[in-house]
Amino acid sequence: MKQRVTKAVFPVAGLGTRFLPATKSVPKEIMTLVDQPLIQYAIDEARAAGIEEFIFVTARGKSALEDYFDHSPELEARLAEDGKDKLLEVLKSTYMPSGAIAYIRQHQALGLGHAVWCARNLIGDEPFAVILPDDVIAAEKPCLQQMVEAHRETGGCMVAAMEVPNERTSSYGVLDVEPGSGNAMKVRGMVEKPKPADAPSNLAVIGRYILSPEVMKHLDSGEKGAGGEIQLTDAIAKEIEGPRGVYGYRFAGERYDCGSKAGFLQATVAFGLAREELRDEFSQYLQEMMAFRSAAQ
Ligand code: G1P
Repeated sequence: MKQRVTKAVFPVAGLGTRFLPATKSVPKEIMTLVDQPLIQYAIDEARAAGIEEFIFVTARGKSALEDYFDHSPELEARLAEDGKDKLLEVLKSTYMPSGAIAYIRQHQALGLGHAVWCARNLIGDEPFAVILPDDVIAAEKPCLQQMVEAHRETGGCMVAAMEVPNERTSSYGVLDVEPGSGNAMKVRGMVEKPKPADAPSNLAVIGRYILSPEVMKHLDSGEKGAGGEIQLTDAIAKEIEGPRGVYGYRFAGERYDCGSKAGFLQATVAFGLAREELRDEFSQYLQEMMAFRSAAQ
């Protein structure tokens, strides 16, 4: 079996109802963080980790997402003509080689596990990554790259992990790990969206995975889990007893939940402040805004 991870699955079939009415016509993955759609951050992270094949699991109403990855010859010609070299460079940096992108339709919203399973024929018998574009991670070394490097040592399955407040466990997959140090923690149990009282810890799964092809086979059963959905967490949990096991990887970086409005706004502030060309003006504005608010209170 090939060990290098060169394929990534991007489940992007969700309705994005938390961002209505915007998502009536704009897929949430196209929503913009500073000046890039969310999906671009996910793609850039995957490319940095050595991914060469990008598989999008989409649904009805997502054609804007497919168009985003098309080339733009008219725009390109116009920018070249106008001598706008910087913008031309930005445009071209989003281009993907022909044949590198595939779209698969998830015909029914049966859960994250089902969405990933829809890509099984393109994955075949090799390890693969899964990136949930809602989870945006700011990191010096991109999160998936950190994981790919750690996975070279561990093999098996690996999920990104981070501590969350105890009362938030019911929004996540939650891990039970063996005690010990190191960033790659051996998992001995994982459960999807437990109530705080039932959670084995407050160590949550974040949307980056490196999975063995066996996980696809476990998903074949179509077994339903939390919320009546086919859960990726349950299929990965079946590998805990497998020969290489499952690891929770404590990544270095800041994660933003761009699936929620508050998280999206926080990411906008953080990524805005990280941009050299915006930093001064934007931070001055934020300071004035905060001063104004505290004076008004
Ligand atoms: C999914 C996974 C969950 C994980 C979370 C991370 O849940 O099912 O295990 O902790 O992503 O963002 P969702 O947010 O799609 O409900």
